[in-house]
Amino acid sequence: MTIDKEIGFDKILNALKAVGEETRLRILALFQTGELTVTELVTILRQSQPRVSRHLRLLCEAGLLERYREGTWIFYRLAEVGPEGDLARSIMKFIPFSEQILQHDAERLAEIKQERQGKASRYFSENAENWDKIRSLYVSENDVENILLNVTSDMKINDFLDVGTGTGRILEVFANRIGRGTGIDLSREMLAIARVNLEKQNLHHCQVRQGDMYDLALANGSMDLILIHQVLHFADDPSSALRETSRLLRKDGRVIVVDFAPHTLEYLRDEQAHRRLGFKDEEVNMWLENVGLQTKPVIHLKGTKIDLSIWVAHKV
Ligand SMILES: C[S@@+](CC[C@H](N)C(=O)[O-])C[C@H]1O[C@@H](n2cnc3c(N)ncnc32)[C@H](O)[C@@H]1O
Repeated sequence: MTIDKEIGFDKILNALKAVGEETRLRILALFQTGELTVTELVTILRQSQPRVSRHLRLLCEAGLLERYREGTWIFYRLAEVGPEGDLARSIMKFIPFSEQILQHDAERLAEIKQERQGKASRYFSENAENWDKIRSLYVSENDVENILLNVTSDMKINDFLDVGTGTGRILEVFANRIGRGTGIDLSREMLAIARVNLEKQNLHHCQVRQGDMYDLALANGSMDLILIHQVLHFADDPSSALRETSRLLRKDGRVIVVDFAPHTLEYLRDEQAHRRLGFKDEEVNMWLENVGLQTKPVIHLKGTKIDLSIWVAHKV
């Protein structure tokens, strides 16, 4: 690994001291993928909240982890930029994940992720029928769809992928602009509705199938345009989902992320299984750039309760 910037003597000493303790090394190992809240870490490590918080504070002070508050939840993740972030990722390479204690932690983390996924899946299986109505609650769908068509009007789109396609609406919107369309979703219930919708409109060049946005069984460089419409706020690891997306893009291919701008409607976590309360422009742009994509200025749309942002990036 190449370290872009030199890290100062005190900083490296602090960082190494911070991970030079069993629990903190275990904590670092848990951040191999994704973001975690203190509550989740307390459940995994089976230690008191004050102890876990203290360890997290030391890892943040050393620059290895980043912390951010969103409503009443506080998220932690591996530092994304800077030499400390590089150092954290380098240390990660040497962590013996086969060690029993780390395996136990990984198993508990998997259980937590499964529970979380179960909550979102239940929400979508219970609300598949109503999803088209729920989707239109926040921002005018027409406006969003017109923007999506506008920002891609210069493209020849042979292969189109809609990640987290739900009821397949985005496939319908792009249907007469594309050669072939594929929609991927985890929820069988949503996909069943998408199939009916596509069939009704005779969109035989579009198909949907079950799949996970973190591990899409599609070939490298096989897509011209990828849409991720209202999906990332359910993700526990949005940056990995974007890495997978970037892998699939052809040169000059484009990815468009549509999601909420930061908001304070915390009840959406309970009622609609949201994990994140929207995203800042620079957060999603950083993830896109980190996976080798070139970003364009973010487009904003005013909503009734929540504003929407549209991130566009292309593969150079
Ligand atoms: C809010 S809906 C959006 C559906 C559609 N994109 C739209 O805008 O109407 C989010 C969709 O993402 C799907 N989803 C969530 N996590 C996923 C994952 N890991 N892989 C694939 N789909 C996922 C859900 O099943 C759900 O259908």
